[in-house]
Amino acid sequence: MKHFKDHNLQKAAQLLEGSQYLVAFTGAGISAESGIPTFRGEGGIWDRYDPIILDIEYFKQNAAKAWPKIKEMFYKTIDKAQPNPAHKILAQWEKRGLLKSTITQNIDNLHQKAGQKQVIEFHGNTRDLICLNCNKKWPVKKVDFNQNPVKCPVCGGILKPDFVFFGEPIPSQAYQDAVNATLQADLYILIGTTGIIMPASLLPYEAKKNGAKILEINLEPSNYTNTITDIFLQGKAGQLLPALEEILLNKNK
Ligand code: APR
Repeated sequence: MKHFKDHNLQKAAQLLEGSQYLVAFTGAGISAESGIPTFRGEGGIWDRYDPIILDIEYFKQNAAKAWPKIKEMFYKTIDKAQPNPAHKILAQWEKRGLLKSTITQNIDNLHQKAGQKQVIEFHGNTRDLICLNCNKKWPVKKVDFNQNPVKCPVCGGILKPDFVFFGEPIPSQAYQDAVNATLQADLYILIGTTGIIMPASLLPYEAKKNGAKILEINLEPSNYTNTITDIFLQGKAGQLLPALEEILLNKNK
């Protein structure tokens, strides 16, 4: 089995080295080793919190109830979280021109903290808050975050995290950028995602339909593994990405 695993790693490294337009599609699994809980699977967020908290209609009616839970679910862990080796390898690949774009479902800002610039935040981010009344955007650091609910310093309206709630549309620029990158990709690397939540989860299928090869890194099989994945590397992103980088760097010696 060990040999088989190395064989897959070698094949994956070959695909990476030969790619003209590599796109990474990341989910919560890439941040698990940074201490940020995933949504599904053992100890996942949805095992401990009711998804209704992130339903936009519920939030509008119950902001004072939802905000304390949202702070627990996201802000407490994200603030302290640091990029792990998986994020750092992607940043290195972007720097040397191998990785052209990263489409992330994550709102934790860890790709940017690792130094990446070409990041498409398909579900928004936790850096900013947006006023439900006057639409003004505020960096979290610029408002009194201890209020409940958090309020707009200008108009007193309720502030909402600037990430996509259930029942909200994907930010149009992010959607457009993600489709453009997907249609240019000749290699797509899926990292740590179950492939459940639409429309994000549809992008890898588009890439495949458009002729891209699909490389997947996950602890366990996802919706993609037995349908569109060409090479499945089972294991932790924080270990497998450095292993791939080691092969790539040795090849060029
Ligand atoms: N390395 C690689 N993969 C991992 C690791 C790890 N260390 N730890 C967990 N995983 C995998 C799990 O096996 C699972 O397939 O990461 C995936 C996490 O799945 P989800 O929690 O469903 O996360 P994601 O696919 O990003 O969810 C998509 O759902 O709730 C919404 O908006 C939310 O963006 C989120 C979307």
